[in-house]
Amino acid sequence: MFRSILVTGGCGFIGANFVRLLLERGHAKIVVLDKLTYAGRLENLAGVDVPIVVGDITNLELVRHVCKTHNIDLIVNFAAETHVDQSILNPFVFTQTNVQGTHVLLEVARELGIRFHQISTDEVYGTIDGDHHSLETDPLRPRSPYSASKAAGDQLVQSYHVTYGLDTTISRGSNNVGAYQFLEKVVPLFTTNAILDLPLPVYGDGLQMRDYTHVLDHCTGILAILEHGKIGEVYNVGAGATISNLEMLEILLETVQKPKSLIRHVADRAGHDKRYSVNVQKLQQLGWNAQFSPRAAIATAAKWYLEHPNYWQPVRQSASFKAYYERQYANRLEAAA
Ligand code: NAD
Ligand code: DAU
Repeated sequence: MFRSILVTGGCGFIGANFVRLLLERGHAKIVVLDKLTYAGRLENLAGVDVPIVVGDITNLELVRHVCKTHNIDLIVNFAAETHVDQSILNPFVFTQTNVQGTHVLLEVARELGIRFHQISTDEVYGTIDGDHHSLETDPLRPRSPYSASKAAGDQLVQSYHVTYGLDTTISRGSNNVGAYQFLEKVVPLFTTNAILDLPLPVYGDGLQMRDYTHVLDHCTGILAILEHGKIGEVYNVGAGATISNLEMLEILLETVQKPKSLIRHVADRAGHDKRYSVNVQKLQQLGWNAQFSPRAAIATAAKWYLEHPNYWQPVRQSASFKAYYERQYANRLEAAA
């Protein structure tokens, strides 16, 4: 369908899964552009034969050069700073990549007439009450530096569609789990902690609700939007069911056969959003459906980490991850002891 696809952030968790899916589905020409931040890993594309350009999406000259050289006709933008806790510790880089970087990609897309798909998040809706499920038309009420930067990115995308007539689409995904996720995120962090018999630091009461979605469902949802979605539109992507963090923990502990005594309730995340839940009917109308329930998604993901110690052990042993873990958790765990 597309001649040549630029996948930015293709060495990250979801981007790498998406590149693998594109290849499986026979999309021949793919180019990855990735800065290889701490979250980007070449290992995520091990065995995959696609050109990888190491570079920053905020570099307009580079983005233009890559798009011209490879005759790109679709950009799918996964590149982002993605962890809420990191955005609380170090917010500026989030504006840089998620706002400025998105803007640079849009500008090159406009100049060269390239279709643009933005990978966004359900966090832009902010925390929601009761039994509401966010609709694509709901107001954006982001509450963390991460989600605020993603909301700003979405609004730039919409502005390029309205003002310049650029062919754009946006997907807003819920919490993804699966292979190749960086260990800072809760499911790989808690799974590997449990395997190592380390405590699991649950923020606050652990009753926050999330729609845990398998990454493959997210990726097939993005493909459905690229193939059948309406230009200028936004689509939510999720399993369409929520569970609490404590329920998520039980599923992963069951999977790796470790006791609940590893659970520690620690000081809460600042501004912690209590509940996200997306209404996915608009995407379902394109013929897409999630294949994994949140339970199946979490169990499958936890099993993957159990079976792939060679993937995650080097990260856990790295000085940068140890420094992050110490900064984020040492005081919390000490106070909870
Ligand atoms: P990730 O952190 O695993 O990967 C991000 C990738 O982007 C890394 O490879 C990193 O090197 C690259 N990158 C970061 N800054 C860059 C820059 N300036 N230039 C080029 N590359 C850069 O992220 P992920 O979890 O795979 O998320 C991918 C996208 O999906 C993000 O836009 C995120 O907001 C969105 N999203 C994530 C989730 C989730 O649960 N993980 C859910 C919904 C939406
Ligand atoms: O909803 C989509 C979003 O999901 C994406 O846009 C983000 O990129 C992705 O990081 C994720 O954000 P969350 O903040 O929901 O995910 P995280 O894995 O950080 O946390 C999930 C839940 O677990 C959340 O309620 C916080 C809680 N948590 C997290 C960590 C890391 C803990 O209780 N303890 C922890 O140590």
